[in-house]
Amino acid sequence: MTPLSALLALLLLATPALADAALEQGKADFDKLCAPCHGVSGKGDGPQAPQLAKKPADLTLVTQKYGEFPAQKVFETIAGLDMPDGHGSREMPIWGDVFVTEQVGKSTRLADAMKASDEASRRIAGLVGYVQSIQAAP
Ligand code: HEC
Repeated sequence: MTPLSALLALLLLATPALADAALEQGKADFDKLCAPCHGVSGKGDGPQAPQLAKKPADLTLVTQKYGEFPAQKVFETIAGLDMPDGHGSREMPIWGDVFVTEQVGKSTRLADAMKASDEASRRIAGLVGYVQSIQAAP
C-alpha cells in the first residue's frame, strides 16, 4: 500500500462529522477548481471545455464507466499520480502539486512540507468524496 492509499483508507473510515467537513471543502474546491472544465454539474460542460483538445470527462458517470466507484483511481488522477492520456498532456493541472505549493508557501522546512502534503491529501480526499456524491444512478 502506498502512503497515499493508506491515508485515503484512513480518511474513508473517518468519523461522519469529519467526512461532512471534507465533503464541504470538496464541493467548494470543485466549484472553484474543477467546474471551469468539468462544469458545476460535473458533466464535462464547463466554460473552458470547448478550448481543450480533449473533452473533460463526465464525472457523474465514473461509477458507470468503471462498474464501481474507483476511489483510489480518482484520488490518484486528481493528485496527478496516475495520469490517463489527456492528463498526461497536462490539460488538467496536477492538483497534488498545486495544493502542496499553496500550503507550503515559501517555507523550506521539512515539517512544513510534510504538513502541506497531509493537507493536500485531505483536500484531494474531499474532492474524491464530492465526485462520489454526484454519481448518476446506474
Ligand atoms: C483545465 C481543464 C481541467 C480542469 C481544471 C480539471 N480537469 Fe479533470 N479532466 C480534464 C480532462 C481533459 C479530462 C479527460 C482526460 C482523459 O480522458 O484522458 C479529465 C479527467 C478527469 C478525471 C478522470 C475521469 C475518468 O473517467 O477516469 C477525473 C477524476 C477528474 N478529471 C477530476 C477532476 C477534478 C476533481 C478537478 C478539480 C480539482 C479537475 N478534474 C479539474 C480536464 C480538467
